[in-house]
Amino acid sequence: MADSTSSTVIHRADYAPPPFLIDTVTLEFDLAPACTTVTSTLRMRRNPDAARAGQLELAGEQLEFVSAALDGAPYTALRAHEHGLTLEHLPDAFELTLVGRCNPGQNTTLSGLYVSGGNFFTQCEAEGFHRITWFLDRPDVMSAYHVTLRADKAAYPVLLSNGNLLETGDLPDGRHFARWEDPFRKPCYLFALVAGKLVALEERIRSRSGQTKLLQVWVEPQDLDKTRHAMDSLIHAIRWDETRFGLELDLERFMIVAVSDFNMGAMENKGLNIFNTKYVLANPETATDTDFAHVEAVVGHEYFHNWTGNRVTCRDWFQLSLKEGLTVFRDQEFSADMAGGEHNAAARATKRIEDVRVLRQAQFAEDAGPMAHPVRPESYTEINNFYTMTVYEKGAEVVRMYQTLFGREGFRRGMDLYFQRHDGQAVTCDDFRHALADANQRDLTQFERWYSQAGTPRVTVDTHYDAATYRYSVSLRQQPGPQTPDAAARPLEPLLIPFALGLIDARGADLPLRLAGEAHAAASTTRVLELTEAEQTFVFEDIAARPLPSLLRNFSAPVIVAYDYSVDELAFLLAHDSDPFNRWEAGQRLATRELLALAGQAARGAPLQLDDAFSAAFARVLNDATLTPAFRELALMLPSEAYLAEQMAESNPAAVHQARQFVRQRLAHELRNEWRVAYEHNRTPGPYAATPEAAGQRALKHLALSYLAELDDTADAERLARAQYAEANNMTDRAAALVTLISLAAASGGTQAEAALDDFYRRFENQPLVIDKWFAVQATQRGSATRNVIDVVRKLMTHPAFNLKNPNRARSLIFSFCMANPAQFHAADGSGYAFWAEQVIALDALNPQVAARLARSLELWRRFTPVLREGMHAALEKVAAQAKSRDVREIVEKALK
Ligand code: TRP
Ligand code: ZN
Repeated sequence: MADSTSSTVIHRADYAPPPFLIDTVTLEFDLAPACTTVTSTLRMRRNPDAARAGQLELAGEQLEFVSAALDGAPYTALRAHEHGLTLEHLPDAFELTLVGRCNPGQNTTLSGLYVSGGNFFTQCEAEGFHRITWFLDRPDVMSAYHVTLRADKAAYPVLLSNGNLLETGDLPDGRHFARWEDPFRKPCYLFALVAGKLVALEERIRSRSGQTKLLQVWVEPQDLDKTRHAMDSLIHAIRWDETRFGLELDLERFMIVAVSDFNMGAMENKGLNIFNTKYVLANPETATDTDFAHVEAVVGHEYFHNWTGNRVTCRDWFQLSLKEGLTVFRDQEFSADMAGGEHNAAARATKRIEDVRVLRQAQFAEDAGPMAHPVRPESYTEINNFYTMTVYEKGAEVVRMYQTLFGREGFRRGMDLYFQRHDGQAVTCDDFRHALADANQRDLTQFERWYSQAGTPRVTVDTHYDAATYRYSVSLRQQPGPQTPDAAARPLEPLLIPFALGLIDARGADLPLRLAGEAHAAASTTRVLELTEAEQTFVFEDIAARPLPSLLRNFSAPVIVAYDYSVDELAFLLAHDSDPFNRWEAGQRLATRELLALAGQAARGAPLQLDDAFSAAFARVLNDATLTPAFRELALMLPSEAYLAEQMAESNPAAVHQARQFVRQRLAHELRNEWRVAYEHNRTPGPYAATPEAAGQRALKHLALSYLAELDDTADAERLARAQYAEANNMTDRAAALVTLISLAAASGGTQAEAALDDFYRRFENQPLVIDKWFAVQATQRGSATRNVIDVVRKLMTHPAFNLKNPNRARSLIFSFCMANPAQFHAADGSGYAFWAEQVIALDALNPQVAARLARSLELWRRFTPVLREGMHAALEKVAAQAKSRDVREIVEKALK
C-alpha cells in the first residue's frame, strides 16, 4: 500500500538540490480505465551542484512495476517498494526506461491520473506525478516533455497534453494516438493529459507581437452553451497581461478543459489548464453574477500562472507563495481593472472590499489557530494542507505592499527584472524580493519578515492635536501576532508596514499633508507612511483644527488597526471619507461594535436594543444616490456570523446569530420603505448582462428583499419573491428568490419554499452545478424551533443526487453546513460535531485532500464556550483515532496539540 499515513515533518532548512537532473522525459500512455500502462524514458545525469549520491530514489505511489531498462539494456539493480524505486550502480549520464501500471478508474483521490465522467484527467500539483510514473517529484527538476497518448478512438476521441500537437493517427483495433511536445522545460507538477469525449469552443487571436494563437475551451458536449464567458475572460486576461506587464502568450495554442470532479478551483498545467467546471461554465440561466465574476478571476489566475509559476517556478514547496501570492495579486488587479480601469476608484474599491473581507474572515482566523504559519512556511507534514489562505491571500497582500511602496511603475520595474533574471528557473521568495529591491534601489532586508513571521500584526494608533502649533501627531505602535509553534525560535521583530493615511476636516474634505521637516505638502492627500520601528510618531504641520484620521486607506497592509473612534466619528467617515475602502471600513467597524455588544447581551440573556445612531448611519448609506448600488450593498451587509464569533472573547455562535437577527429585524422595520424603494429602483429588466453595474443593482435589490423578509408581516416579501422566482430570466434572480422563500419558511415553520424547491430541482436536474446550489441553499438555511437544519442535511445525504465522491457535491451539502451555517452547526447538543466526524472519516477513505479541508472546520475549537469546546474536542479525538491519511492526521493532530 502507498505511504499516505507516514507523518514525517519536512523542514525548509533541509533543502538540498536534487542528486540527478532529468533533461528530457518521454512518456507513452496506453490509456484504459482499469489498467493504464505508462512507459517513461528519462534522460538523466548527475547534478553538478549536488553531493554525489550512491543511489537514486525515485518516488512512486500506487504503481505496479513492470520493467526497467538502462541505456536500452534490461536493468535489475533496482528495488521496487511502496514509496517508489531505489536504483543503484548508475553511471553519470544515462537513459532510464520504466514501465508501470496504474488504475485510474479506481482513483478517488483525484490526484494523479483519474477518470471523471468516463474521461481521463490528471492533477499533478503538488505531488501527484509520482502516482503516474516514478520520478523526482519536486519542482526544481525541470525537463522537456514529449508525450504520446494511445486510446480507444470511439471512447476517447480527443487526446490532449501540454504544448504543441505534433501528430495524430490511427492504430489497429480501433485505437488512435496523438503526439505532443512542450517546447518549454517544466517541473512535473505542470504535466497534464486529458482524454475523452469533449468538444471545444475555439477562437483564434493575434498576440501583441503579431503571432496567431489558437484558444480552446474544452467541455462535455451538453456544456458548450456555457463556454462563451470563459473564452471572453481568457482573451481579456491575455490582453491584460500584455498591456499591464508586457507578458505575451508563449505557445501556439492555449487550452482550458472543464472537469466536474476536481479537488480545487483550477490548475495551471502548461498550455493545458484543467478547471473545476464551477470556474468555467457560465450562462445567465445557470450561473449567478458571483459565478460570472469567479470564472473571470480564476481563468485570469490560471492564465497569469503561465508567467508567474510556469516560466518562473518554485524551487521547493515552501516557496509556494512565490507563485500563488503573486498570481492572486495579479488576478485581483485584473478583476479590478476589468471592473473599473485604473482610475475608477469606486469600482476598484468594490473588488478590494470583497478581497479584504475574505482575508479578514478566513486568513485572520487561520492565523489565530493551530494551522497558523508564515507566508513561507518553515515546515509541513502534507504539502496539500498548505494551499492556504495565508499562502494565497496574505501572500497576495505581501505582493501588493511592494506596489504600494513603489507605485505601479516601480512594481513593473521589479517584475521586469524578476523575469530578466529568472526566466526558466526554479527560484525562491527571496529572489523575488531581491528583484523588487534592486529595481527600485531599496534595501528590503526588513521586508523579509513578512515571509517568515506568522500571525496578524496589530497597529495601535494614538493621535494628538496641538492647537498652539497647528501640529497633529500620529503615533503608530506595532505588535506582532502571537508566536506560533511553526515560527523559527527567534523573537518576532518589527515589520516594514506601509501605512496609508489621510486627514479629514470638519466638512469632510481631505487636508493637504506636510510632514515635519518637509518644505511643501505632498500632491496626494493620501500619504503612505513607512512604519519600520516598534513605535514611531509622524507629525503633520499646518493643521488648522483637530482632524479626523482615515487610517490604513485601501487596506495598505494586512494588519489589525486599533484606534478609539467614537460612534459619531465612524458615522462621519462612513458619510465622507474620500477613500471608498475606508468608507466601507467605517461602516464595518460601526456594525461590528454594535453587533458584538448585542451578542454579549444575548449571551447573558439580557434584552437587546439597537443604537439609533447606527440605524441612522445605515439609512444615510441606503439613501445616498451618489454611491453605486454595488458599494451600498457591500456597506450595508453586516459582518458575517463567523467573523463576529471569532471577535468574541469566547465564541458563541448562538448569541451572534441572535444579535445579528435582531439587528436585521430592527433595520428591516425602521427602513422598510427605503428597502421597498431600493428593491424597485434596482430591478434590471431586459436581457441579462453580467456587468458590474447590473450585478451591483441585483445585489442591492436582493439585500433589500432579504430585509423585507425579516418584517413581521411577510406578505409583501413573499409576493415579491414568488414573482421574482417565476419571472426570473437569470440564475441570480432565481436563486435569490429561492433563498428568500426558504428563509420565510424557516422563520414561520411553514411550507413557502417547497414548490419552488421542487421546481428548481426539476428544472435543473441535468445541470450539476445548479443542483449544487440546490443543496447549498438548504444546508445554509436558518433553523427554527421546529426545524433543525442537521435533520434536513442528513435527509439530503440520502437523496439520489447526493454523491460523496464528487467534491463539488460534498462541498455543496456538507461543507456548506459545517462552514457556512455556524448557528446550526454549533448546536449545543453536539449533533453538528458528530456529523462532522462521520463525514471527515468517510471522506478520508475516498479523498484525503477534501477530507482535510473539512477537518479544518473545528480547528478554532479552543476559542468557543465550554460546552461547545467539549463537544468539539470529543469529535476531534474521534477523528484522530480513526483517520488514516497523512492529510487529515496533520490537521487534527495540530488542532489537539
Ligand atoms: N495551482 C493551483 C492554483 O491555481 C492549485 C491547485 C489546483 C492545487 N489543484 C490542486 C493544489 C490540487 C493542490 C492540489 O491555485
Ligand atoms: Zn494558483
